[in-house]
Amino acid sequence: MSMKLSSGKEIPIEMHKARMVQKIWLTPVEERLKAIEEAGYNTFQLKTKDVFLDMLTDSGVNAMSDNQFAAMMRVDDAYAGSMSFYEFADAVKDVLGYNYVMNVHQGRAAEHLISKVFAKKGDVVPTNYHFTTTKVHIELTGESTCLEIYTGEALKTESTNLFKGNMDPQKLKDAINKYGKEKIAFVRMEATANLLGGQPFSMQNLKEIKQICKEHGLILVLDGSLICENAYLMRQREKGYEDKTVADIVKEMCSIADLFYMSGRKNTCVRGGCIATNNKELFEKIQPWLPVYEGFFTYGGMSQREVVAMAVGMREMVNPDLAGCAVEQIKYFIKRLVETKIPVVTPAGGLACHLDAKKFLPHIPQSEYPAGALTAALYIVSGIRSMERGTISMERDKDGREVFADLELTRIALPRRVYTISHIEYAVDRINWLYKHRDLVKGLKFVFEPPVLRFFLGKLEAIDNWGKDLSEVFKKELGNY
Ligand code: F0G
Repeated sequence: MSMKLSSGKEIPIEMHKARMVQKIWLTPVEERLKAIEEAGYNTFQLKTKDVFLDMLTDSGVNAMSDNQFAAMMRVDDAYAGSMSFYEFADAVKDVLGYNYVMNVHQGRAAEHLISKVFAKKGDVVPTNYHFTTTKVHIELTGESTCLEIYTGEALKTESTNLFKGNMDPQKLKDAINKYGKEKIAFVRMEATANLLGGQPFSMQNLKEIKQICKEHGLILVLDGSLICENAYLMRQREKGYEDKTVADIVKEMCSIADLFYMSGRKNTCVRGGCIATNNKELFEKIQPWLPVYEGFFTYGGMSQREVVAMAVGMREMVNPDLAGCAVEQIKYFIKRLVETKIPVVTPAGGLACHLDAKKFLPHIPQSEYPAGALTAALYIVSGIRSMERGTISMERDKDGREVFADLELTRIALPRRVYTISHIEYAVDRINWLYKHRDLVKGLKFVFEPPVLRFFLGKLEAIDNWGKDLSEVFKKELGNY
């Protein structure tokens, strides 16, 4: 939650205490330069021993609760029929309101199964905005095309629009007219839209999209990987929701979707995922494929330990102290950067603080990956590991041509209940230092490029060896650290 101090200043306040901690290190700038060079200027390739603040993602790295660890000790381990699975199914019924659920090993496994079952060659999938793994599964598994049906505001990084994750209803109707409803595999809403900067959609928009789907007999799929952040922001921003609980809002969102899936690695603070619905027919289309790709019906590729921890996490995630934990830190982080006119995505969303690399490094063309360069530069000057979310995170087209991303973002994620305001203040300071020295940063070029999801394993090189120049100026001004 957020706490108003007597001075009027507002700060995010942790509604938990740390009872187990992990040591972290900050290595000297010369070692950071060496580490990023060895990692091919790709932060996915860094080892955590070289990372000070790991803000790569909020996926699978959140702090779990004492109750989750306790549940893991009393697990019912069984290949089939585990009571831990039924405990999870009860939590899904109570929290999401769904009668049918299956576990999968993580969110992208759900995307694989849904694309396999519902998308046919040549189909299209309208979405408020794609996520990397979603798009790849729609394209590779379903041999279909992702249609981005966002509103005019979505790509404006500096904005006051509170729901940049909305789908444009008129564009959806136009797409239905253009392709015909039989060519639409399903319509997908992502709460919050990750690659737009964790931006929420409104309940009103979800209802409008559902109405269009209903009129045309289309399946509405909800990616609820960050559903609690979306619900928390609806509560703060949408008229009529200010007095509802996050739990009520989550349930209402779920009641609108035909098919729900989530990565359990974010909101429920474990490693896993699930697909859930109240539509028996849809469920039964997917279920036979579960043991082929994931595992038996009552574990779906997860360990029972994590299934039961996910059951506890599912009930805990709608508590506003957890649902709003990252949101309030992100709001603070962004406010501090806006004060010194650092280009960041506004308004604050869920998931992360996003630097706008096109504005931060306007001298770097998209063909030289400004977001990749900024992400690597931030690591060199701070030891903070963030993630490139720009052109490197795009796939080439079928003729091998580069596809430039709509947005070039450096994503600095805030895992739940992990970092504190002093960590954020340190990040703010180093980002400001980097902004003053931004002319030292140049572009990147690939030296090894994998054929799919290249951002994970790709290796790049700094054009004109700029990493060395940056680290030398840093050392001269600030010393080793
Ligand atoms: N959908 C959304 C909205 C996501 O953010 C993610 C993962 C997935 C699906 C895939 O889930 O990782 O469990 O297979 N997002 C992570 C991130 C990877 O860093 O934002 P997964």
